Amino acid sequence: MEITVTVNGEAHSADVEPRLLLVHFLRDDLGLTGTHWGCDTSNCGACVVWLDGKPVKSCTVLAVMADGHEVRTVEGLAGADGLDPVQQGFMRCHGLQCGFCTPGMMMTARWLIDNDPDPSEKDIREAISGQLCRCTGYENIVRSVRWAAEHEADAENETPDVEVRA
Ligand code: FES
Ligand code: FES
Repeated sequence: MEITVTVNGEAHSADVEPRLLLVHFLRDDLGLTGTHWGCDTSNCGACVVWLDGKPVKSCTVLAVMADGHEVRTVEGLAGADGLDPVQQGFMRCHGLQCGFCTPGMMMTARWLIDNDPDPSEKDIREAISGQLCRCTGYENIVRSVRWAAEHEADAENETPDVEVRA
């Protein structure tokens, strides 16, 4: 089937099998490997992206269901002026260890702060409750999201002073 999906503001057309999952379309067809694929059972949340402005597990969405819709992935988080405050929060508060869960966590965090600029620890834990992290114990993820919320305004144009690896 021929589909056109707008990903991070750019329209992508492709001929895909009806059974193709969005996560595989993003990773394999578009090369956007920031979205991770961690399970086959809709449990881990490593694959979270935005579909029309809302976080979804992209392993539960067929690529054809995204036809004509807008997708935002972790590659679309940083702006022209630098990293998103959420990315800076994870960097500064050590919100990751292996980093496998991080793209999905950050996409949920960005959505949460957009919808609740001052989320409590409980709000944050609830927002990420559908996502698993096997490394951090979640404590530093919560701190990272709080940091982002608290520094939303001033972090926007800040350039990080450490090397950031893809
Ligand atoms: S890959 Fe695990 S929930 Fe999507
Ligand atoms: S940092 Fe390793 S799974 Fe979360």
